[in-house]
Amino acid sequence: MTAKPSVLNDLPADLDRQKLPHHVAVIMDGNGRWANHKGLPRIVGHQRGVDALKALLRCCKDWGIEALTAYAFSTENWGRPLTEVDFLMTLFERVLRRELQEMIAEGVCIRFIGDLSALPISLQEEIGRAMEATRESENIQFNVATNYGGRREILQACRAIAAQVKANQLNLEEIDEAIFEKHLYTAGLTNPDLLIRTSGELRVSNFLLWQVAYAEIYVTNTLWPDFDRHAFHQALSDYQNRHRRFGKL
Ligand code: FPP
Repeated sequence: MTAKPSVLNDLPADLDRQKLPHHVAVIMDGNGRWANHKGLPRIVGHQRGVDALKALLRCCKDWGIEALTAYAFSTENWGRPLTEVDFLMTLFERVLRRELQEMIAEGVCIRFIGDLSALPISLQEEIGRAMEATRESENIQFNVATNYGGRREILQACRAIAAQVKANQLNLEEIDEAIFEKHLYTAGLTNPDLLIRTSGELRVSNFLLWQVAYAEIYVTNTLWPDFDRHAFHQALSDYQNRHRRFGKL
Protein backbone atom coordinates (compact mmCIF):
# COMPACT_ATOMS: atom_id res chain seq x y z
CA MET A 1 0.00 0.00 0.00
CA THR A 2 1.49 3.32 -0.99
CA ALA A 3 -1.36 5.85 -0.84
CA LYS A 4 -1.08 8.32 2.02
CA PRO A 5 -4.02 10.37 3.28
CA SER A 6 -3.79 13.85 1.76
CA VAL A 7 -4.34 15.59 5.10
CA LEU A 8 -2.21 14.62 8.08
CA ASN A 9 -4.18 15.29 11.23
CA ASP A 10 -2.25 16.72 14.17
CA LEU A 11 1.22 15.67 13.03
CA PRO A 12 3.43 17.30 15.70
CA ALA A 13 5.19 20.33 14.24
CA ASP A 14 8.68 19.05 15.09
CA LEU A 15 8.21 15.87 13.03
CA ASP A 16 9.28 15.88 9.39
CA ARG A 17 6.50 14.28 7.36
CA GLN A 18 8.99 13.31 4.65
CA LYS A 19 11.04 11.30 7.15
CA LEU A 20 8.29 9.28 8.78
CA PRO A 21 8.73 5.51 8.80
CA HIS A 22 6.54 3.79 6.21
CA HIS A 23 6.07 0.76 8.41
CA VAL A 24 6.17 0.56 12.21
CA ALA A 25 6.37 -2.76 14.06
CA VAL A 26 5.67 -3.00 17.76
CA ILE A 27 6.36 -5.54 20.51
CA MET A 28 3.64 -4.67 23.02
CA ASP A 29 5.28 -5.77 26.25
CA GLY A 30 4.37 -5.04 29.87
CA ASN A 31 0.61 -5.57 30.12
CA GLY A 32 1.00 -7.99 33.03
CA ARG A 33 3.43 -5.75 34.92
CA TRP A 34 1.22 -2.72 34.37
CA ALA A 35 -1.66 -4.60 35.99
CA ASN A 36 0.53 -5.95 38.83
CA HIS A 37 1.77 -2.46 39.68
CA LYS A 38 -1.83 -1.36 40.05
CA GLY A 39 -2.89 -4.43 42.03
CA LEU A 40 -5.16 -5.56 39.17
CA PRO A 41 -5.46 -8.97 37.48
CA ARG A 42 -3.16 -9.46 34.46
CA ILE A 43 -6.15 -9.65 32.13
CA VAL A 44 -6.97 -6.02 32.87
CA GLY A 45 -3.52 -5.19 31.53
CA HIS A 46 -4.37 -6.97 28.28
CA GLN A 47 -7.68 -5.09 28.03
CA ARG A 48 -5.86 -1.77 28.48
CA GLY A 49 -3.31 -3.04 25.97
CA VAL A 50 -6.02 -3.28 23.35
CA ASP A 51 -6.96 0.36 24.03
CA ALA A 52 -3.32 1.38 23.60
CA LEU A 53 -3.09 -0.53 20.32
CA LYS A 54 -6.24 1.10 19.00
CA ALA A 55 -4.88 4.53 19.90
CA LEU A 56 -1.58 3.76 18.15
CA LEU A 57 -3.36 2.54 15.02
CA ARG A 58 -5.38 5.76 14.89
CA CYS A 59 -2.26 7.82 15.42
CA CYS A 60 -0.37 6.00 12.64
CA LYS A 61 -3.31 6.52 10.30
CA ASP A 62 -3.68 10.21 11.23
CA TRP A 63 0.02 10.86 10.78
CA GLY A 64 0.24 9.14 7.41
CA ILE A 65 2.18 6.01 8.36
CA GLU A 66 1.32 3.31 5.85
CA ALA A 67 1.64 0.13 7.89
CA LEU A 68 1.59 -1.01 11.51
CA THR A 69 2.45 -4.56 12.60
CA ALA A 70 1.72 -5.58 16.21
CA TYR A 71 2.93 -8.73 17.99
CA ALA A 72 -0.26 -9.97 19.66
CA PHE A 73 0.60 -13.63 20.41
CA SER A 74 3.81 -15.54 19.85
CA THR A 75 4.29 -19.26 19.19
CA GLU A 76 5.81 -19.34 22.71
CA ASN A 77 2.80 -17.69 24.38
CA TRP A 78 0.92 -21.05 24.43
CA GLY A 79 3.16 -21.80 27.44
CA ARG A 80 1.23 -19.30 29.59
CA PRO A 81 -1.44 -20.50 32.04
CA LEU A 82 -4.44 -21.87 30.17
CA THR A 83 -6.79 -19.29 31.69
CA GLU A 84 -4.66 -16.45 30.31
CA VAL A 85 -4.35 -18.07 26.85
CA ASP A 86 -8.14 -18.60 26.77
CA PHE A 87 -8.72 -15.05 27.87
CA LEU A 88 -6.46 -13.70 25.11
CA MET A 89 -8.11 -15.79 22.38
CA THR A 90 -11.57 -14.63 23.49
CA LEU A 91 -10.32 -11.06 23.74
CA PHE A 92 -8.96 -11.11 20.17
CA GLU A 93 -12.28 -12.45 18.91
CA ARG A 94 -14.35 -9.91 20.84
CA VAL A 95 -12.16 -7.00 19.77
CA LEU A 96 -12.35 -8.01 16.12
CA ARG A 97 -16.14 -8.28 16.24
CA ARG A 98 -16.48 -4.99 18.13
CA GLU A 99 -14.07 -2.98 15.97
CA LEU A 100 -14.77 -4.30 12.48
CA GLN A 101 -17.29 -1.65 11.40
CA GLU A 102 -15.03 1.15 12.64
CA MET A 103 -12.04 -0.34 10.84
CA ILE A 104 -14.02 -0.47 7.61
CA ALA A 105 -15.20 3.13 8.11
CA GLU A 106 -11.64 4.30 8.78
CA GLY A 107 -10.13 2.50 5.81
CA VAL A 108 -8.04 0.04 7.82
CA CYS A 109 -6.89 -3.06 5.92
CA ILE A 110 -6.34 -5.75 8.58
CA ARG A 111 -4.28 -8.87 8.00
CA PHE A 112 -3.28 -11.58 10.46
CA ILE A 113 0.14 -13.16 10.09
CA GLY A 114 1.31 -16.37 11.74
CA ASP A 115 0.19 -19.99 11.88
CA LEU A 116 -3.52 -19.28 12.15
CA SER A 117 -4.52 -22.95 11.82
CA ALA A 118 -3.83 -23.54 15.53
CA LEU A 119 -6.22 -20.80 16.69
CA PRO A 120 -9.75 -21.57 17.90
CA ILE A 121 -12.06 -22.09 14.90
CA SER A 122 -14.39 -19.26 15.95
CA LEU A 123 -11.40 -16.88 16.04
CA GLN A 124 -10.22 -18.12 12.63
CA GLU A 125 -13.68 -17.36 11.26
CA GLU A 126 -13.70 -13.87 12.75
CA ILE A 127 -10.22 -13.25 11.31
CA GLY A 128 -11.37 -14.46 7.87
CA ARG A 129 -14.38 -12.14 7.99
CA ALA A 130 -12.33 -9.12 9.04
CA MET A 131 -9.61 -9.73 6.43
CA GLU A 132 -12.17 -10.18 3.67
CA ALA A 133 -14.23 -7.13 4.69
CA THR A 134 -11.21 -4.79 4.79
CA ARG A 135 -9.27 -6.25 1.85
CA GLU A 136 -9.74 -3.17 -0.34
CA SER A 137 -9.17 -0.58 2.41
CA GLU A 138 -6.33 1.79 1.66
CA ASN A 139 -5.74 4.22 4.51
CA ILE A 140 -3.50 1.97 6.58
CA GLN A 141 -2.29 -1.64 6.53
CA PHE A 142 -2.65 -3.19 10.00
CA ASN A 143 -0.94 -6.54 10.55
CA VAL A 144 -1.57 -8.55 13.69
CA ALA A 145 1.02 -11.26 14.38
CA THR A 146 -0.88 -14.07 16.09
CA ASN A 147 0.64 -17.48 16.83
CA TYR A 148 3.59 -15.92 15.08
CA GLY A 149 7.20 -17.06 15.36
CA GLY A 150 10.00 -15.73 13.18
CA ARG A 151 11.94 -19.01 13.15
CA ARG A 152 8.82 -20.99 12.27
CA GLU A 153 8.05 -18.54 9.47
CA ILE A 154 11.56 -18.93 8.03
CA LEU A 155 11.40 -22.73 8.29
CA GLN A 156 8.06 -22.96 6.51
CA ALA A 157 9.42 -20.70 3.75
CA CYS A 158 12.44 -23.02 3.41
CA ARG A 159 10.17 -26.06 3.19
CA ALA A 160 7.95 -24.46 0.55
CA ILE A 161 10.97 -23.45 -1.55
CA ALA A 162 12.62 -26.87 -1.16
CA ALA A 163 9.37 -28.52 -2.31
CA GLN A 164 9.39 -26.36 -5.45
CA VAL A 165 13.00 -27.29 -6.17
CA LYS A 166 12.24 -30.98 -5.61
CA ALA A 167 9.29 -30.73 -8.01
CA ASN A 168 11.56 -29.09 -10.62
CA GLN A 169 9.49 -25.90 -10.50
CA LEU A 170 12.44 -23.81 -9.33
CA ASN A 171 16.21 -23.96 -9.88
CA LEU A 172 18.50 -23.73 -6.89
CA GLU A 173 20.34 -20.77 -8.51
CA GLU A 174 17.09 -18.81 -8.83
CA ILE A 175 16.53 -18.60 -5.07
CA ASP A 176 17.16 -15.02 -4.01
CA GLU A 177 15.84 -12.64 -1.35
CA ALA A 178 12.82 -11.65 -3.43
CA ILE A 179 11.76 -15.28 -3.90
CA PHE A 180 12.35 -16.01 -0.23
CA GLU A 181 10.20 -13.04 0.84
CA LYS A 182 7.35 -14.31 -1.30
CA HIS A 183 7.13 -17.33 1.00
CA LEU A 184 7.02 -15.39 4.27
CA TYR A 185 3.72 -14.56 6.00
CA THR A 186 4.51 -10.93 5.18
CA ALA A 187 4.65 -11.51 1.39
CA GLY A 188 3.72 -8.31 -0.40
CA LEU A 189 4.31 -6.08 2.64
CA THR A 190 7.20 -3.67 3.04
CA ASN A 191 9.72 -4.43 5.77
CA PRO A 192 9.46 -2.35 8.97
CA ASP A 193 11.61 0.80 9.22
CA LEU A 194 11.07 1.16 12.95
CA LEU A 195 10.69 -1.55 15.61
CA ILE A 196 9.36 -0.36 18.96
CA ARG A 197 9.53 -2.45 22.11
CA THR A 198 7.92 -1.33 25.34
CA SER A 199 8.75 -2.21 28.98
CA GLY A 200 12.50 -1.96 28.61
CA GLU A 201 13.47 -5.47 27.50
CA LEU A 202 16.33 -5.51 24.99
CA ARG A 203 15.18 -8.53 22.96
CA VAL A 204 13.66 -9.22 19.56
CA SER A 205 11.77 -12.26 20.91
CA ASN A 206 11.42 -14.15 17.63
CA PHE A 207 9.54 -11.26 15.99
CA LEU A 208 9.96 -10.63 12.24
CA LEU A 209 13.51 -12.00 12.31
CA TRP A 210 14.01 -11.66 8.56
CA GLN A 211 12.04 -8.45 8.13
CA VAL A 212 13.76 -6.30 10.78
CA ALA A 213 17.22 -6.75 9.27
CA TYR A 214 17.62 -2.98 8.78
CA ALA A 215 14.90 -1.63 11.06
CA GLU A 216 15.80 1.02 13.61
CA ILE A 217 15.11 -0.34 17.10
CA TYR A 218 13.55 1.86 19.77
CA VAL A 219 13.12 0.55 23.31
CA THR A 220 11.21 2.46 25.96
CA ASN A 221 10.66 1.65 29.64
CA THR A 222 7.00 2.65 29.29
CA LEU A 223 4.72 -0.34 29.84
CA TRP A 224 2.48 -1.10 26.85
CA PRO A 225 -0.87 0.11 28.29
CA ASP A 226 0.76 3.51 28.96
CA PHE A 227 2.20 3.83 25.44
CA ASP A 228 0.22 6.81 24.13
CA ARG A 229 0.50 9.48 21.41
CA HIS A 230 3.12 11.32 23.41
CA ALA A 231 5.25 8.17 23.75
CA PHE A 232 4.88 7.44 20.04
CA HIS A 233 5.83 11.02 19.22
CA GLN A 234 9.04 10.50 21.24
CA ALA A 235 9.78 7.27 19.36
CA LEU A 236 9.32 9.04 16.02
CA SER A 237 11.51 11.99 17.06
CA ASP A 238 14.22 9.53 18.04
CA TYR A 239 13.81 7.68 14.73
CA GLN A 240 14.11 10.90 12.74
CA ASN A 241 17.43 11.62 14.41
CA ARG A 242 18.92 8.30 13.32
CA HIS A 243 21.19 8.07 10.32
CA ARG A 244 20.07 4.99 8.39
CA ARG A 245 22.99 3.52 6.50
CA PHE A 246 21.74 0.07 5.49
CA GLY A 247 25.25 -1.30 5.98
CA LYS A 248 26.87 1.37 3.78
CA LEU A 249 29.03 4.34 4.82
C1 FPP B 1 2.46 -8.71 26.48
O1 FPP B 1 2.24 -8.35 27.81
C2 FPP B 1 1.38 -8.49 25.57
C3 FPP B 1 0.62 -9.44 24.95
C4 FPP B 1 0.69 -10.88 25.26
C5 FPP B 1 -0.25 -9.01 23.85
C6 FPP B 1 -1.71 -8.89 24.17
C7 FPP B 1 -2.45 -8.42 22.99
C8 FPP B 1 -2.97 -7.18 22.81
C9 FPP B 1 -2.87 -6.13 23.80
C10 FPP B 1 -3.64 -6.73 21.53
C11 FPP B 1 -4.61 -7.62 20.84
C12 FPP B 1 -4.98 -7.05 19.55
C13 FPP B 1 -5.95 -7.38 18.63
C14 FPP B 1 -6.05 -6.63 17.39
C15 FPP B 1 -6.91 -8.46 18.75
P1 FPP B 1 2.80 -9.38 28.89
O2 FPP B 1 1.66 -10.20 29.36
O3 FPP B 1 3.93 -10.15 28.30
O4 FPP B 1 3.31 -8.41 29.99
P2 FPP B 1 4.42 -8.76 31.10
O5 FPP B 1 5.71 -8.97 30.37
O6 FPP B 1 4.42 -7.54 31.95
O7 FPP B 1 3.94 -9.98 31.82
